Amino acid sequence: MKKILAAAAIIAAMLPAAAQAEGSLNLICAADVAVCELLKNRFEKDSGIGVNMVRLSSGETYAKIRAEAANPKTDIWWAGTGDPHLQAAQEGLTLEYKSPLLDQLQDWAKRQAEQSGYRTVGVYAGALGWGYNADLLAQKKLKAPGCWADLADPSFKGEIQMANPNSSGTAYTALASLVQIMGEDKAFEYLAKLNANVSQYTKSGSAPVKAAARGETTVGIVFMHDAVTMTAEGFPVKAVAPCEGTGYEIGSMSIVKGARNLDNAKKFYDWALKPEIQSLMKDAKSFQIPSNKNAELPPQAPRFEDIKLIDYDFKKFGEPATRKALLERWDREIGANAN
Ligand code: F6P
Repeated sequence: MKKILAAAAIIAAMLPAAAQAEGSLNLICAADVAVCELLKNRFEKDSGIGVNMVRLSSGETYAKIRAEAANPKTDIWWAGTGDPHLQAAQEGLTLEYKSPLLDQLQDWAKRQAEQSGYRTVGVYAGALGWGYNADLLAQKKLKAPGCWADLADPSFKGEIQMANPNSSGTAYTALASLVQIMGEDKAFEYLAKLNANVSQYTKSGSAPVKAAARGETTVGIVFMHDAVTMTAEGFPVKAVAPCEGTGYEIGSMSIVKGARNLDNAKKFYDWALKPEIQSLMKDAKSFQIPSNKNAELPPQAPRFEDIKLIDYDFKKFGEPATRKALLERWDREIGANAN
């Protein structure tokens, strides 16, 4: 026991004084693990605050924060698609906060804040699409899929992966986008056809295109920037913007109501909106569009002006009742009949 105490004292003495003085922060990071690690390490270095980080998908984070509402274990939720952040805001699970950096943000990021009564804010944006493995496609003599309709063609049987919209914000964005493009009943008819071609519904949104990069599937329905990450890593992955139009995310950030380390959560919030911090994302091969107007837009980031974007209804699809109804229908009509 004495030895353990002595060892603990040595370790404590080795920690930077600032880290001990500044306390800690419990962070859920709902983006790719590479950017989560990069930001965690950089924030610890910049602030002296020790960060306990958990990486989860967007829907999983929302479920965790709801489940822990009476006794929150998380201080801040950075990233993940905006819809569940809006749903959490409506349910009063997150805290109103106006960062002094709000004025530096793109209109879409400010709108996200206004729409939620300042309980969330946009940190990046990205359009939905897919990525395919060009080598596999050629080997299998498949036609390059440029439209949502192509993905439902029987020639793609077993060739597609997408995430489960219960756990993944990407897949919820896909569901909500298709409902907005086609109307709800037609979208579910389409999803039933697509279901015949889907080999697996993954937990995380970007997993399908990582599988495509490894040659485990031909197509992954993902945010286009996640397909670009695979291309940047040297895989034969091509990103596609669907010809019929597509939806997009406003990746968001929220402080949890009842946060035990509220001051540190606010410090992280303001820090994560700074242009120089948002410009770091590309170093982890994260190619979303940053929300701070002064942040660097990576040349690889898919540009909104090159994509046929729908006027995504964040108000409606960010409502808890819409989420519940769509996911129940998806579970009944699609998930229950998955391959
Ligand atoms: O991989 C990054 C990313 O696509 C973010 O842009 C997005 O907010 C998040 O992942 C969504 O992840 P998931 O679908 O697993 O919730």
